[in-house]
Amino acid sequence: MAMKSFVWLAAAACLAPVGPAWSQGFVLPDGPGRELVAESCGGCHAINRLGAGYTPEGWRTIERMMRNMQVPIPNDKWPTVTNYLIKAFPEKPKPAAVVIAGPVQATIKQWPVATPGSRPHDPLATRDGMIWYSGQVAGVLGRLDPKTGKVKEFRLKTPHTGPHGLVEDTAGNIWFTGNNAGLIGKLDPKTGVVTEYPMPDPAARDTHSLTFDQGGILWFTIQQANRIGRLDPKTGEVKLLTPPTSGSRPYGIQVNAKGIPFVVEFGANKVASIDPQTLAIREYPLPNAAARPRRLAIAGDDVVWYTDFARGFLGRLDPATGQVAEWQSPGGPKSEPYGIVFTKGALWYSESGTKPNTVVRFDPTSEKFQTWVIPGGGEIVRNMDVTRDGNPVLANSLVNQVGLVDVK
Ligand code: HEC
Repeated sequence: MAMKSFVWLAAAACLAPVGPAWSQGFVLPDGPGRELVAESCGGCHAINRLGAGYTPEGWRTIERMMRNMQVPIPNDKWPTVTNYLIKAFPEKPKPAAVVIAGPVQATIKQWPVATPGSRPHDPLATRDGMIWYSGQVAGVLGRLDPKTGKVKEFRLKTPHTGPHGLVEDTAGNIWFTGNNAGLIGKLDPKTGVVTEYPMPDPAARDTHSLTFDQGGILWFTIQQANRIGRLDPKTGEVKLLTPPTSGSRPYGIQVNAKGIPFVVEFGANKVASIDPQTLAIREYPLPNAAARPRRLAIAGDDVVWYTDFARGFLGRLDPATGQVAEWQSPGGPKSEPYGIVFTKGALWYSESGTKPNTVVRFDPTSEKFQTWVIPGGGEIVRNMDVTRDGNPVLANSLVNQVGLVDVK
């Protein structure tokens, strides 16, 4: 009974599926386990998510993830369910990683996170040299010491918080978006105490990515609710803003050197900026209607670089002129470029659609690409960050690892 109501709560806290749970035209092939899947897998997200297809090892990881979410399947039935999924939804063909040699020497180091099936979503390199990650479906924030490989996990306050984006404040607190619970949270690593900031509007679920401006104001996106938020940590006051484009899906967010937040709209071919004084939102259209910018990085000259996930492009928007330039990512139209940072004078991002995933470097001066295959496949690097030494860090969500690109 307790289990039942608990799962209902968890289900209610999840993202409302975009379509009905039983999406039209989605077929579960016959086979042992089909019924359990039909009953249990459409409660929190559309069941057609299964159609993405995974390798056998991928499905075993997803089993661990869904068990962390307390999906109500009895222990002894899981092997049947997972064998069904392995057979019914194998991995789909993916473009091969394209390896391009170049002038820069880099090696990729990786560490497993503490809880299997955590789905480490965002990495964060803090000033003390640690690498943090959000264990999205394990409900933890983790802190890795890259010198020793030791990980400490901090359990969050609300079950199934769904920690997602991460950022550090000047006092060393770790702020996060609680994606399932629809909140902003603050963890004090010295005490383990979590402070939660609920949204003033219950419709504002799917709190997503976040960043601080130079004055200490926290800016964040709420993807499905089409909002951009502003939180003043001094007072706890939250303001929610609505972009002019409906369903624009505000996603990645970064602040430029002048303190202006920029957002990429993953549901539109647009980048947006917010006037921090008037809170007016200005949208910058990208020339290709099919562009879907997912994450962004801002260079020293305040030029905005973005990954166009849908078309497989790296883009450059100069907000001063509105001019856009773009380059096809080495892995091609289906390479799904995702997490991106600007460091050591170049753009560094990951292709999440190639097999294996890659780390890509783009030199904005020579306009040349260089790429590295991520050992172990990477399996979707959803966001990146940069250490004090300027090295990119990764969270490899479906192989349960965090990584560091050690640039020589
Ligand atoms: C209690 C809620 C819940 C139920 C029930 C549930 N899931 Fe999930 N599922 C999640 C959450 C949370 C995520 C990760 C966040 C997201 O992307 O929505 C997720 C993500 C996934 C993903 C995407 C993995 C990725 O990272 O790409 C797959 C596939 C998936 N679930 C399969 C299943 C299967 C199979 C079942 C039934 C056995 C199931 N889910 C039942 C909550 C649930």
